[in-house]
Amino acid sequence: MLLITRKTPPAVAMRAASEHEVRQLDLEGAFNPAMLLENLDGVDAILCTPADKFDAALIVQLPASIKVIATYSVGLEHIDLAAAAARGIKICNTPDVLSTATAELALALMLMAARRAGEGERLLRAGKWRGLSPTFHLGRGVTGKVLGIFGMGRIGRELAGMARGLEMQIHYRNRNRLPPELECGSIYHGNDSSFLGALDFLSINAPGGDETLHWLNAERIGMLKPGAVVVNTGRGSSVDDQALIAALRSGQVLAAGLDVYNNEPNIHPGYLELENAVLLPHIGSATVETRDAMGFLALDGIKNALGI
Ligand code: DGY
Repeated sequence: MLLITRKTPPAVAMRAASEHEVRQLDLEGAFNPAMLLENLDGVDAILCTPADKFDAALIVQLPASIKVIATYSVGLEHIDLAAAAARGIKICNTPDVLSTATAELALALMLMAARRAGEGERLLRAGKWRGLSPTFHLGRGVTGKVLGIFGMGRIGRELAGMARGLEMQIHYRNRNRLPPELECGSIYHGNDSSFLGALDFLSINAPGGDETLHWLNAERIGMLKPGAVVVNTGRGSSVDDQALIAALRSGQVLAAGLDVYNNEPNIHPGYLELENAVLLPHIGSATVETRDAMGFLALDGIKNALGI
C-alpha cells in the first residue's frame, strides 16, 4: 500500500491508484508525525514532500513494512538519509524535471527584486500611485550584469542558460569545477571572497544540508559588492536570516528575492517589514506541468524500489 501525505495533482493521483492501493492523508500545514505513524498499517511506500520532516527520531519508529520513501522534490534536506539507510529504506527524489521551473522562478525573483516589482505593486494597490515621473520608483537593470550562482547543479546551470539570454556574465561557486561542456564559459571561483566580490546578483541554488548551513552569513555578506541583489530558490538553511535582514535594512544588500526559508512555513518576521524583499511561498517547482512530471517520476521510483 502507498501512503501519500499531501494532495497530489489529479493525473498523479489517478496513476498512483492504478498501481497501488492508496491511503491519502491530505495533510496541510505543519507536518504531524504522530498522525503519519497512526496510518502506516500495511504501508510499504510513502510519497511525501519537503514539508514532511523524516528525521532519525521518526525513521526509527517506521514499521518494518516501509521499503521506500519517495519525495516530491529534488531536495533531500528533510530526510535523514543515514537513518533511512540504516533501516534499509530506499529514498527516491525527483531531479531534472523541475530544473526549468525553478530556474524560471529564480530569474523572476532577480528581475522583481532589482526592479522593485513587489513594492510597486503594493504601492499601486494601496492607491498611492501619482503617475509617472522621471525619478519615480527607480530600480536597477539586470541585462549585462554579473550573476553569481552558488550551486551549479542542474538548476544552477539552467538558470545560467536563461541569464545568458540577458547577456549576463556568469560566475559560479560549486563543490567542484564543472567540465568545459557544462561550464559553457562561466567563470569558476575556488573561494568565497573572489566569487562574492565579483557579483551584482547572487543566486543561491545549493540543495541545503549541513555543509552549507548559514553559508550566507554576515562575514560573506561583507564580501559582496555593496548594493548586490540576493536571490534564494535553493534552501532557506543556506542563509543566516538575521544577517541578511540587517544587510537589507542598511542597504548593504540592495534587495532580495526569496522563495525558501529557514523553518518553513514560518518565516523570520524581519523579512515581512522590508519593502526591498520579494517573498514567495516556496513555489519554485509549482507549475502544472512540473508537478505532474515530479509525481510521475516519484511513482517510477517507488515501482523500481518495490520491484513491481
Ligand atoms: C525541491 O524539489 O527540492 C523544491 O524545493 C520543492 O519542490
